[in-house]
Amino acid sequence: MKRDELQKLLKEMSLEEKIGQLVQIPGFMIEKGAVLTGPAMEMGFTEEDLFNAGATLSVFGFDRIKEIQDDFMAHQPHHIPLLFMGDIINGYRSVFPIPLAQGCTFDPALAGQLAAMSAKESSASGLHVTFSPMVDLVRDARWGRVMESTGEDTYLNSCFAKAVIEGYQGKDVADADSVAACVKHFAAYGAPEGGRDYNTVELSERTLLDDYLPSYHAAVDAGTEMVMTSFNTINRIPASGNAFYMKDVLRKQWGFNGVLISDWAAINELITNGICREKEEAATLAINAGVDMDMCTPVYASSLKKLVEDGTVSEDLIDESCMRILELKNRLGLFEDPYHHADNRNADEVILCREHRELCLKAAEESIVLLKNRKEILPLAKEGLEIAFIGPYADNKRLHGVWSMLAEEEDTVTVRQGIEEIAQNNTVTFAKGCRLLDKKYPLYGFRGRVEEEDVDDEELLLDAMTKAKRADVVVMLLGEHPCHSGEAGSRADIRIPKPQRRLLKAIAKVNSNIVTVLFHGRPLDIRGVDRRSKAVMAAWFPGIEGGRAVARLLYGETAPSGHLAMSFPYCVGQVPVHYDSFTTGRQYTGNDENRFQSKYLDIPNKPLYPFGHGLTYTTFDYTDVELSGDTVTPTTDITLNAKIKNIGNRAGTETVQLYIRDLYGSVVRPVRKLKGFKRITLNPGEEGTVSFVINREMLRFTRADMTFDAEPGDFYAYVGTNSATERHLKFTLTE
Ligand code: BGC
Repeated sequence: MKRDELQKLLKEMSLEEKIGQLVQIPGFMIEKGAVLTGPAMEMGFTEEDLFNAGATLSVFGFDRIKEIQDDFMAHQPHHIPLLFMGDIINGYRSVFPIPLAQGCTFDPALAGQLAAMSAKESSASGLHVTFSPMVDLVRDARWGRVMESTGEDTYLNSCFAKAVIEGYQGKDVADADSVAACVKHFAAYGAPEGGRDYNTVELSERTLLDDYLPSYHAAVDAGTEMVMTSFNTINRIPASGNAFYMKDVLRKQWGFNGVLISDWAAINELITNGICREKEEAATLAINAGVDMDMCTPVYASSLKKLVEDGTVSEDLIDESCMRILELKNRLGLFEDPYHHADNRNADEVILCREHRELCLKAAEESIVLLKNRKEILPLAKEGLEIAFIGPYADNKRLHGVWSMLAEEEDTVTVRQGIEEIAQNNTVTFAKGCRLLDKKYPLYGFRGRVEEEDVDDEELLLDAMTKAKRADVVVMLLGEHPCHSGEAGSRADIRIPKPQRRLLKAIAKVNSNIVTVLFHGRPLDIRGVDRRSKAVMAAWFPGIEGGRAVARLLYGETAPSGHLAMSFPYCVGQVPVHYDSFTTGRQYTGNDENRFQSKYLDIPNKPLYPFGHGLTYTTFDYTDVELSGDTVTPTTDITLNAKIKNIGNRAGTETVQLYIRDLYGSVVRPVRKLKGFKRITLNPGEEGTVSFVINREMLRFTRADMTFDAEPGDFYAYVGTNSATERHLKFTLTE
């Protein structure tokens, strides 16, 4: 449709119809043939709201989507198609590693390919919008939603945000292979106090501006079609009623013209948040803050008409929001083709096709992080060893992460299956060893209580110990349940569940050659695991090809290349912990006799494994690290060059990281900040050069006077394999 046709349509629409476009109805409340079910009525939605609605979510499968779309369009007075949205976070049916694991690839281009694959399967199945990417910066491993983020770094998150949005949206969102992206959760949802989900966020304005906001800004610059508000407060005002951030920052400063949707029921929660007394006040605040669409509550549907009629809310505001939604539908091409090219045939062809499975495998392999490898116990020899694979993840299909609603167990390769494909003349044995969950703490997922098969604990333990005793090497496959992370998945104890700790302890008594592979949605407190294991691999939730990827990495069919996108804390008492902390007046010197320093009495300051850390099966030597000059000016950039040589006897990939430290500033500066990263793959003996340009632009920050710019002075450029590298060179920025 042309713009004037859209405007004509808007003019013809009644006020009810326009408000209807601003309403999203939960898909599970729509019965067959598009009738509202009881729960919707209880929430206050009416039949009329249903047929006026602009969007729905979580309806899956083309047949069902088509049935609903046809019914809605037949009833909607202007036959306006409905938008179908869904949380396709890490793949539709071809499920790949969770976003935090993707962050560990340090390979945004790969994440872009994954997003494009996800878009292809989602779109072929009838979806128009995915509620992804989540670009919230995360520093607190207690928060369950860290699994949906690409980690603790501003720059890394921004690179992923751009790549993923471009991957979803392709060249044109109208194309068959594209879906519209919805970046979330604006803003700063990743910093809830105490790591408790939905909790208050308290951040200084500078931390918000310099660390938390850039990834959303990058998403807007990359052209995201939609933005979702967050549940939290920003400066004590809930995001969905925060006109300053939603309008002044998002729309005016950043130029976002797309659709802003509330998070689930967040407009209604303005009441529970104690900001509004009742629904009409909440609707007024949210619409004035520029929130176009009300996700899954009837607040807009039941209040806005009256508010416009009595002059409290201007009809122009309704028109603006409605127009943005119509424009999105138009950009998606829905007025011409309300199914967005989808049909079952398309879906059958693309879903789980070979190419997609291969990409899932590549991503899983690249995202797994080898944290430790003492005495080079890994890779495992393919012949001549007896190896016992023990633990609740030894033969487990739940490798997808909690958001993968369409994942099927039958699609998933377990570790056992992966091992059996590779192990040749090895004797391999498998044992579950223990239950995954601690019976004492019932776990509730998105669909009710997580039930675990009742087992004889002692029998499982005995079987595992017998196999471990005989084996040359034991590989422990341990971890969290997928429902331990994700939304409302906060934990105060971030160790693996107790039965698994008990199992590891028992096994360690009979065999000291232990390799542990962890499955998890967050960095864990792994002190006990680390102490008892010669090697540790962080496999996250790696998706449908996860078991194969783990097996291939263990046997060295491919070499690990993941690097942590989020620090592994020493223990929970240390969180939030992040590499880009600030210089204090009392920096810890390492001398414990001096009490009055910024340190703990009982644990180190350093995380167990820092941001950026990751090993592989070879070693890289850094030589000839040089700067092309020692002065950056407003018009002259300098280049840092480093020669990287593979000095081991296997091929491997190094992720070379550049960090910059600003030695003095008008406000306290972080001890270092990631400014660049490059992956380089080298054969044994091979050498390559990695270069980074350093310019004034990357040295900017929010200064004492609140302007965003660099300050002349001295800087260190660190280059190395993780955020703890000490290798650095000095340069100066002049006016
Ligand atoms: C979550 C969002 C999600 C939405 C729709 C909310 O509870 O916070 O991330 O997109 O539900 O499912």
